[in-house]
Amino acid sequence: MKIGVLTGGGDCPGLNPAIRGITLRAEDFSDEVVGMLDGWKGLLEKETMPISLSDVDEIMRMGGTILGTSRTNPYKKEGGAEICKKNMAELGLEALIAIGGEDTLGVAAKLHKEFGLPVVGVPKTMDNDLSCTDYTFGFDTSVTCAIDALERMRDTGRSHRRIMVLEVMGRHAGWVALFTAIGGGADWVLIPEIEPDVDKMCEHLIKVKERKGYALVVVSEGIKLSHKKKEEIDEFGHMILQKRGVGQHIAEEIEQRTKIETRVAVIGHIQRGGPPTLFDRILGVRVGVFAVDLVHSKRFGKMAALSGNNIIEADLFDATGRLKLVDKSWYDLALTLFK
Ligand code: F6P
Repeated sequence: MKIGVLTGGGDCPGLNPAIRGITLRAEDFSDEVVGMLDGWKGLLEKETMPISLSDVDEIMRMGGTILGTSRTNPYKKEGGAEICKKNMAELGLEALIAIGGEDTLGVAAKLHKEFGLPVVGVPKTMDNDLSCTDYTFGFDTSVTCAIDALERMRDTGRSHRRIMVLEVMGRHAGWVALFTAIGGGADWVLIPEIEPDVDKMCEHLIKVKERKGYALVVVSEGIKLSHKKKEEIDEFGHMILQKRGVGQHIAEEIEQRTKIETRVAVIGHIQRGGPPTLFDRILGVRVGVFAVDLVHSKRFGKMAALSGNNIIEADLFDATGRLKLVDKSWYDLALTLFK
């Protein structure tokens, strides 16, 4: 078979292992693998590259994606979905593996439903907010990076007896912030799913500062803010959250209310780069291999998903219909650890 592969949306560590898994499994069937460059843009513009074994020999340890990515939405271009269909035929693609999050896989689901295109999905996102899969690759690496940042902030916060605020990504789900706070031993966390109680947080931080001499707060970029700022939107209608200055705003509030010197760091895209962790490497190759098996069993409109320790099939519409958000039991666990 001739199989197309694309990576769309924000990059994350684990994409290259997934491409490697796809390529090596395709070899078992003597398939030809062709990469679309820069996500859906590559299919719309027929910008492609062949992927051979030598292309994937050394990519296991590489962050990012060798195919490039973009936030191109074919449904935002005049006749874009029809062009995808036409170009798949012209390129001779008998199947397409779309590696992406909610947006990229949402397009894949629609193209399959509306045009019967032979598409399967591979889930990725550092936000870990995709339904029907326990974890997505990219998440583990980004939290590992954020915990490293938090630990560095602890050292300097302790020396200066300050409150340190770390702003992390994660969009509208608090997984990255929550796992960073729990895994890094922070003293408070603010996540989009829970309305921020700034009074309660400050009261707690004063207590922590008295006991330890410093305190650490993790804040998710997607929390609700009382002040409204003009929001910029991408092609999928998402706010560009890094421009809201959430961490800075929270740090100022804390300093004003507690009268304790407070500093903020925003790690931004640093948490999206670097070599994937072992977890993300293994998950990446597993879902990549499984996606090729889905293609060969003609399970189009499906995606490879992690359930417990098994890779299973999930429906693309179910996976992209609603976000997987942090539930109260996870938040309660964090609260238990803040003393
Ligand atoms: O969805 C992944 C993510 O890293 C979000 O956490 C963040 O809000 C967004 O992408 C940033 O996107 P961009 O790289 O387009 O600025």
